[in-house]
Order: sequence, then structure tokens, then C-alpha cells
Amino acid sequence: MTMKKSSKKRDSKFGFDSFNPLENKTVLLGISGGIAAYKACDIASMLRHAGADVHAVLTPNAKEFITPLSLTTITRNQAHCEQYGAQANWRPEHIDLAKKADLILIAPATADLIAKLAAGICDDLLTTMVLASPAKVMIAPAMNPVMLQHPATKHNLSILENRYRYDVIPPEYGEVACGDWGTGKMASVDTIIAAVAARLLAHLTLSTKRLLVTAGGTREPIDPVRFIGNRSSGKMGIAMADAAHGRGADVTLVSTVDVERAYPVIVVETAQEMQDAVESEFDGCDALVMTAAVADFRPLTTSNHKIKKTDSEDLVLELTKNPDIIDLLGRVKRKDQVIIGFAAESEALLSNATQKLKRKNLDVIVGNDISVPDIGFGSDDNAVIILNSDGAKESLPRMPKRAIAEHLCDLLAERFQAIEKTPVH
Ligand code: C5P
Repeated sequence: MTMKKSSKKRDSKFGFDSFNPLENKTVLLGISGGIAAYKACDIASMLRHAGADVHAVLTPNAKEFITPLSLTTITRNQAHCEQYGAQANWRPEHIDLAKKADLILIAPATADLIAKLAAGICDDLLTTMVLASPAKVMIAPAMNPVMLQHPATKHNLSILENRYRYDVIPPEYGEVACGDWGTGKMASVDTIIAAVAARLLAHLTLSTKRLLVTAGGTREPIDPVRFIGNRSSGKMGIAMADAAHGRGADVTLVSTVDVERAYPVIVVETAQEMQDAVESEFDGCDALVMTAAVADFRPLTTSNHKIKKTDSEDLVLELTKNPDIIDLLGRVKRKDQVIIGFAAESEALLSNATQKLKRKNLDVIVGNDISVPDIGFGSDDNAVIILNSDGAKESLPRMPKRAIAEHLCDLLAERFQAIEKTPVH
């Protein structure tokens, strides 16, 4: 695996380019004093190229092997090593860092550092930060094979392995710095990066979640051959269902477009059929993603026979309002349920989407401007704005609908995390 290349032009997992998988992730890279410390520069560089905000913290012994200057230059953040030194603010910066880190990676982790972590000793900056941080800690041990096999080291490693917060990236077999052969060589940089990426991205999984997604445009029959419809192709909803399924969610798709999928697809035609299907599934779902373009009106009556053009000179269709499915469900949704709506607008996108978000009691609304040519309805691409009920706004430039769906999956995973952290009264 070559993360540098794949992070720049990553198309395998998510199907689009220029994807920095670790964007918005803060990684605290702890480096302890072993010869493998020289590899920390490569690790820092790869993490940064994958989008992570990397902050290096060296033990005093690590400085004998590599310099803080190298790490500062590579990470583009000041490397830390002194526990007691001048500080810019009343609150030591490293405590803030320890609190905001998404992950602490210690590579290499020496026998000494592992022993300190197991015992809870914090006599330097790195061990203090680990103790002050709630983040997950991954350690990549690197030492002489005899040291690794020592009962004290084995015992200390087993203590860490049994602690929920810690993951050990096992050392490998090979020739170690002193010329001995055996297991003790730090895992390869690629292995470490892959483990870190998997750990950081794992929280964006949707496994254990039930998602109800709607797709397509409803058809409201006038007679047995004619209907009132719209231009929705169903591509966005299907992309959303596929992406969520790929993240491990238990997906049900309610769609006007019949597709073969590994998850259940309920095919419907009219707004009323969609309402019935969505309402019967809604209670058991954690999120409803209402991507479908549901007709606002339907013919008041449907002719049982094909209306002939000879029947009369003019044909007047009387329309009646369809139920606004998302609006009804927005009123009854539980606090632990998330609803994402869509707004396809031809004017005043931001204000219309904002109003809909509030009026329909949605958690998120995805708006797109249908007056922009070549994107949106029927296209494989779209450009959208995403408005959150907490006021956060973002706009995604033109990109494949699958990429938008992946983004929405991230957002959902983060919402679920926030819900899980909210105390139940
Ligand atoms: O108000 P408007 O129809 O533009 O709102 C769009 C959002 O509402 C979409 O998420 C759409 O799926 C949903 N909708 C609905 N029931 C309707 C009309 C729209 O759930 N009858």
C-alpha cells in the first residue's frame, strides 16, 4: 500500500479523486527513543499527505535519534518535547492537543515507554499527554527480540492490549538494528498507516444503524396510461443507499426505480404508496434520507379507462395535495432519529432550503440549484449545499452523486455519535 499516492488520487474505495481520507483528523504522533524513530518522519509525512493534522511529541531520548526540527518541518506544526518550558498561554498547548486528538500513535514505542504506559507513569511530555487524553492510543513496538520476549515486556503489552483504549500494531520478524534476527522490528510504515487509517475511519461506520432511503420520482396516475411525474432519475437516492450499505448500515430503499440490490428494495409508484412504505418502516429506522422527488399534487380522480381525445375539446385535471411525507415524520421523529431532506430549487436556494429545514423539523437538508445546466436531475453529478439544524453550512462543489452520498454518510455517522453521547434523562 502506498498511502501517499492513494491519498492524492484515491479512487478505489470511494470512487472519486482528490480525497484526503484523514482530513479533519488530528493525530498526535508520539516518538520514543529507539533507532526506528527515523521512520517517524515517513509516518508523519504520509499522515499529513492523507489529510491529517499531525503533531509530533518526542521523548527526550527520541531527540537523540531525530530532531524536532525535522518533525516540525514535515508536519508543519511545532514539534513538542519539553515538559517544562516557556508557554504562550496560561493553559499549556499540549493539554489542548491531548484533548482534541482523534488518535495518539506512538511509533516507535520502546520497552521503556510501554512499561510506563502500562503503569500509568507520566514523567515526560509524551506520557503526560497520553494520560491527559481521552483519545485512542495505537502503539507500534520496536525493540530487540530478546527485550520483546522478556516477561516484563510481554506482561506490559498484555496490560495495554486488554485496555479498551489501546491497540498494539504488532512488531515484525526481521533483522533489527543491533544485527540480531527475530521479532521486534517495528511494523512497516505502510502497515502502521493502514492501521491508523482504519482506526480513524472506523468511527464513520454505519454498522448497527438502520437507514431508510427513498429514491426516484413518484408517478401520479391520470388514467391507466398517463401520469404526472417529474425528472428525478433516482440516482442520488440509490447512490445514498449504496454508500450507506457499503458502510455497514442495514438499508431499506423505497424507490420508484426498480433496482437489484443486496439490501431490500420496496418499489412504489405514487406518493401515497411511498408514504405507506416509509411510514411502516420509519419507527424501526435510525435515519430517514428522503431523497425522492415526491409529487406535491395528484389527480383528484384517476380514470379507470384511457381518456380519449374525442371525449371533449378540453381536458381539465383537478389536482389535490399529496401528503408531505417528510413533514409528517418530522413531527413525530424521536430524538434518536435523524432525518435528511432534499430541496431542489430553481431560485433562492439558500433561503428556501433554510425555511424547509426549519418548517419540516429536519436535521439536515441538502439543496441543489436545478437551474445549473448538466447537473442534478438525471446527471451522475451534482453540486449541493448542506444545511444542518445546528446552523452549520457547507457547500460541495460539483462531484459524483456517490461522493455526495459518502459525505452524507460521514455526516450521519457523526450525528449518531453525538446522539450516543447525549445523556438520556
Ligand atoms: O417542499 P419540498 O417538496 O420541496 O421538499 C423536498 C423534500 O421533501 C424532499 O426531501 C422530499 O423527498 C420531501 N417530500 C416529501 N413529501 C412530499 C414532497 C416532498 O417527503 N409530498
